[in-house]
Amino acid sequence: MCLGIETSCDETALALVRNGKLIDSVLASQASVHALFGGVVPELASREHYRFLGALYDELARRQDLCSRPPDLIAVARGPGLLGSLLVGVGFAKALALGWGAAFVGVNHLHAHLLAAGLSSPIIWPAIGLLASGGHTQLYLMRSPSCFIQLGRTMDDAAGEAFDKTGKLLGFDYPAGREIDACAAIGSPGQWQLPRSLMEEDSLDFSFSGLKAACAREIDQAGLQGAARDPARSSRLHDFCACINEAIAETMRVKLERAIQKHPEARSVILAGGVAANSLVRDFVGEAAMRHGLEFMAPEKKLCVDNAAMIAFAGWLLHQEGHGHMLDLETIPRGRAVPDDFAS
Ligand code: KG4
Ligand code: ZN
Repeated sequence: MCLGIETSCDETALALVRNGKLIDSVLASQASVHALFGGVVPELASREHYRFLGALYDELARRQDLCSRPPDLIAVARGPGLLGSLLVGVGFAKALALGWGAAFVGVNHLHAHLLAAGLSSPIIWPAIGLLASGGHTQLYLMRSPSCFIQLGRTMDDAAGEAFDKTGKLLGFDYPAGREIDACAAIGSPGQWQLPRSLMEEDSLDFSFSGLKAACAREIDQAGLQGAARDPARSSRLHDFCACINEAIAETMRVKLERAIQKHPEARSVILAGGVAANSLVRDFVGEAAMRHGLEFMAPEKKLCVDNAAMIAFAGWLLHQEGHGHMLDLETIPRGRAVPDDFAS
């Protein structure tokens, strides 16, 4: 049994996985705390993790009687993420591993997002992994749970950042992706020509800062600032949301198809991260995978956003491969690559 702990951004979460199956989970979201500021405030996030983690653990321990049946393995998100937030979770995980004499493994939060697809059905290796979250947009060739080769990444903003910052101008609460998606479902694209960046041949990297700037300009010109706060939301707002959805989904599709062509050994496509909950992104990426004869896998929607089930499951997979860490495990802030430094 593996206990997973996630505190890399603004969700405090714990989950239990036994033999690769999710048993139970607890989660406290800080979204409403950060919504007041229109984005995650790192210092506040660390304090909130510190405030909630013990109580959440107590709840899980009570429900699953962990005192008499402690987990054999503790898995923790070690990065990339907000350093102060990660330190809260990693410190807690080390204490549990030490106290129980349990095995210990630090998990790459980004890899865990993609590996979470395996909670629904076994992953078909090798896979092309497309991860789109609030902080990252990455393409990988996934050879095994511990062998991810990065094929591309965003050069500036993540796809989720483009959704969230544009959403803020439109008057949606943070994080805005889900609401933009819902509005787009009743709008139609085509009215605004929004840019798709880095489309030139061969590049597997992404860039969304141009889209973010173009959206700000168009919102200004069309007088759509704060339009989402109007109780009678206009059809122009819905249409604009449909255009953003389409620009991002199409960019994902083009890059994915290019990655598939470059890596014919891939047998499946995995889409994950908060933006994978987007209906159009899911449709476009899923259709592209199937057109190329590849299996399409994505974690169920509630496991696309940050959660601890993905950490527990990834930790369990790594442990199955014989990987683990000592208690000197280092925590990796955003912007630094997570090293391959397994102790075994
Ligand atoms: O993976 P995640 O929970 O956190 C990070 O690790 O960043 O992703 C959060 C991101 C936010 O930017 C949020 O707006 C976006 O995922 N998101 C969506 C949808 N649901 C969440 N974006 C577009 N459409 C959605 N349905
Ligand atoms: Zn995440």
